[in-house]
Amino acid sequence: MRTQTLGQTSLQSSRLAYGCWRIATRGDAAADYETARAAIFAAVDAGYTLFDHADIYCDGEAERVFGRILRESPGLRARMVIATKGGIRFKNRPAGAPVRYDFSRGHLLAQAELSLRQLGVETIDLLHLHRPDYLMDADEVAGAFAELRQSGKVREFGVSNFSPSQFSLLQSRLPFPLAVNQVEVSLLQLYALHDGTLDQCQQLKVTPLAWSPLGAGLLGSGGKDLLPGQAHYNPKAILPVLDRIAGERGVTREVVALAWLLKHPSRLIPIVGSTNPARIRQHAAADQLELTREEWYHLVTAARGAEMP
Ligand SMILES: NC(=O)c1ccc[n+]([C@@H]2O[C@H](COP(=O)([O-])OP(=O)(O)OC[C@H]3O[C@@H](n4cnc5c(N)ncnc54)[C@H](OP(=O)(O)O)[C@@H]3O)[C@@H](O)[C@H]2O)c1
Repeated sequence: MRTQTLGQTSLQSSRLAYGCWRIATRGDAAADYETARAAIFAAVDAGYTLFDHADIYCDGEAERVFGRILRESPGLRARMVIATKGGIRFKNRPAGAPVRYDFSRGHLLAQAELSLRQLGVETIDLLHLHRPDYLMDADEVAGAFAELRQSGKVREFGVSNFSPSQFSLLQSRLPFPLAVNQVEVSLLQLYALHDGTLDQCQQLKVTPLAWSPLGAGLLGSGGKDLLPGQAHYNPKAILPVLDRIAGERGVTREVVALAWLLKHPSRLIPIVGSTNPARIRQHAAADQLELTREEWYHLVTAARGAEMP
């Protein structure tokens, strides 16, 4: 798979990333291990080098099982850029507390330590703030980032689900450029094309990462419910257009949906979330498919449910 630079850093990533959110959802340690191992090896073999985590995925089990697989195959670590996220606190920890976001210095340092332990690595290549904390004090975050960087625990920093103004605020207090903004973008979620997120990424040379690039399965062959922000979109209108282009190009509909993201000039990196080894390998073919402008706009038109004005 081709590679690209993440933001203005020296980190090199494959054009598609692999997302580890779902690798340990079976609730049985042995089954989770088998699923995770098969998925990770399929991804490495297919050329994915950026692996996306969060401290909270599968209540920590995603990072822990990934760490076990790295310990068993020590050669893997050098072939990966490992990204994770912090800043979300669970409900009822402590008892009665709501879900909340926490970018305090103490929490960010503790969460980075937790991820390092769970993953069993010495350095996190890329640490994201997971979701914007309304109580974010940008100077305090900058201080925590500086400590994590100076101690060698984190190499580069990014954000996730940040609006352009939230991004600008934090960036204004940092002595180095943020590398990425990880947001939901797909044919079932177009807002980043309209709200300035992708414009800002292109302007500042920040790499956008696209989560749920197949709408959590709805643009493939699965997925039952629309995600909360997808209510305006109609998969039934998009799938026939994906299938027509897929038939003409001799690929699958998923490959077309991923190639639609890859065509954006902000150099979006879709984060593939399937745990199925055959799908993980097949999705890598999107790197080889260059859609025409006409194909790209046919898909946008189907997603909007209306011709462009
Ligand atoms: N920053 C954030 O707030 C945030 C939020 C959500 C996700 N993420 C990141 O984004 C990554 C990807 O998200 P996602 O898992 O929702 O991505 P996705 O690629 O849109 O969806 C993958 C899901 O769809 C299912 N699926 C069903 N049919 C499929 C098909 N034909 N092809 C592919 N998948 C099919 C997969 O099941 P199988 O496993 O059976 O293939 C899997 O459950 C996550 O792992 C995580 O790293 C970040």
